This record gives sequence, structure tokens and C-alpha cells, in this order.
Amino acid sequence: MSVHPPLSLEAVRQALAATDAGPLGAQITYYPQIDSTMDAAREQAAAGAPHGSLIIADEQLAGRGRLGRSWSAPFGANLLFSLILRPQLRPAYLYRVVMAAGLAAAEACEAAAGVQVGVKWPNDLQIGGRKCAGLLPEGAVEGDSIQWCIIGLGLNVNQAFEASDPLAQTAASLYSERGRMFDRAALLGDLLGRLNRKLALLGSDLLLEDWQARCISLGQQVRVHSGEEHVEGRAEAIDEDGALLLRLPDGRIRRITAGEATLRPS
Ligand code: BTN
Repeated sequence: MSVHPPLSLEAVRQALAATDAGPLGAQITYYPQIDSTMDAAREQAAAGAPHGSLIIADEQLAGRGRLGRSWSAPFGANLLFSLILRPQLRPAYLYRVVMAAGLAAAEACEAAAGVQVGVKWPNDLQIGGRKCAGLLPEGAVEGDSIQWCIIGLGLNVNQAFEASDPLAQTAASLYSERGRMFDRAALLGDLLGRLNRKLALLGSDLLLEDWQARCISLGQQVRVHSGEEHVEGRAEAIDEDGALLLRLPDGRIRRITAGEATLRPS
């Protein structure tokens, strides 16, 4: 089992200076170990932390995933962070922030490792059908505007999955794909630079088009677990609010705003 060095904040700052991340990462709180960066980010957001504040950890003791799941990773192996954003957006467009972050992470991984990264509705990144990252959005809405939103990202960078580890079947990292370690600070800097540029496009169709082009769920037969329900159909499109449009076996279109989609063999 390899021992990973802690993240160097100096290296992160240098990587940010080399890109146009703007306010993203201008304020950084680093924890070697924390329960969850989401909780620290929530506290900071409620206390008025500025747009772009970054909360990052080398290890989480109670990392959270979507749908009540946990998220864990060995110390220093991956990128685990929450970013506080204050976008000027109507609440229905919150999902666009998730799209922007997913695309930025996918592009940064491709640039660093030369691997193809797909997005899977709603919040996953995949390499070769295995999950390499998950996004967790949380937001506070007041009236018709978003007060703040937090994008949590767990990105598998240098984690090795032993063949005996059941996760090896379903999870991937840049390390598992390429057989070498990656510089997490450089990857983070590049990711935040890309995200900053994408945040300027939140209102445009370009973001949606890029995301759809990268989406591995579209055109596939999928089974969606949404709340208590299971629905099957063909994933036809993602609408402008990020909802999945599913073509049901009887030909009707069903709009699904949240859930978990599993690809089915057609
Ligand atoms: C998912 O795919 O279920 C989303 C996973 C999100 C994990 C990240 S790691 C950093 C941040 N802190 C957390 O507790 N969760 C998110």
C-alpha cells in the first residue's frame, strides 16, 4: 500500500497563479483530516464566505456521497474538496453549476492523463464504464435566487484499487488507468481555471451542448431509481434545467429531475 504525501498549499497556489481561476481558490481552507468538507463549507457559506472559497482535505472521516451514501478515500490519494459559489442564477439552473464542474473535471483529467472521461447523469464521471469522480451539490435558495451553492467533488487521482478490492470492478482513478501518479495540485489548479471559464457560460446553450456530447447515458436504455420508484426507458436528452428526458416503452416522455441511472443492455 503506498503512502501519499499531503497536498502542498504552496503548490496549489502556484498552480492557480498559472491559470485564470479568478476568485476560485482565492481563499483556501486545508484540512489534513476532517469529517466532511461539505460541513465546513456549509458553515463558511452561512458565515458569508466569498464566491470561490475552497475547502479541501487530504482525508475525510465521514465523507458524504449522494443518496445518503458515504465517500471514502485513503489519505492524500485523491482530490476531495467543496467549493462555495454564489452564482447569479435562478434556482432551476442550479444543475448547470454541476454540469460546469463535471465538465471542468473531465477536461482537466483528459489533459493530464490523456484518458477519455464521460459524464453520467446526473453527477458522475466515468472512465471506461467505471466511476472516477462524483459531484455533490448543496444549495441555499432564498425567494427566486441562489444564496450560495456548494459543489463537493471527490476525484480519484492516485488511488490504487487492488484486484481483490470489490471497488476495482466499479471504480477507476487516473493512477489505475495510467499506472503512474499525478500531481494533485496541478490538476486542481487546471480544473479550477477551466471551471472559472465555464461559470461565465452558465446561461448559454454551449455548456448544455458540451455536457450532452460527453454524456454516456444518452441514447442508452437506462433504469432510473428516483425516490421509491424505478423507471426504465431510453435516455433521450437532458433539458435546460438538467432533468433527464426518458422515453418510456409506451412512447411517452417522462421528465426525471433526480435519481440514479443504471445503463441496461439493450
Ligand atoms: C457521489 O458520487 O455520491 C458524490 C460524492 C461526493 C464526494 C465529495 S468528496 C468532497 C466532498 N465532501 C464530502 O463529504 N463529499 C464530497
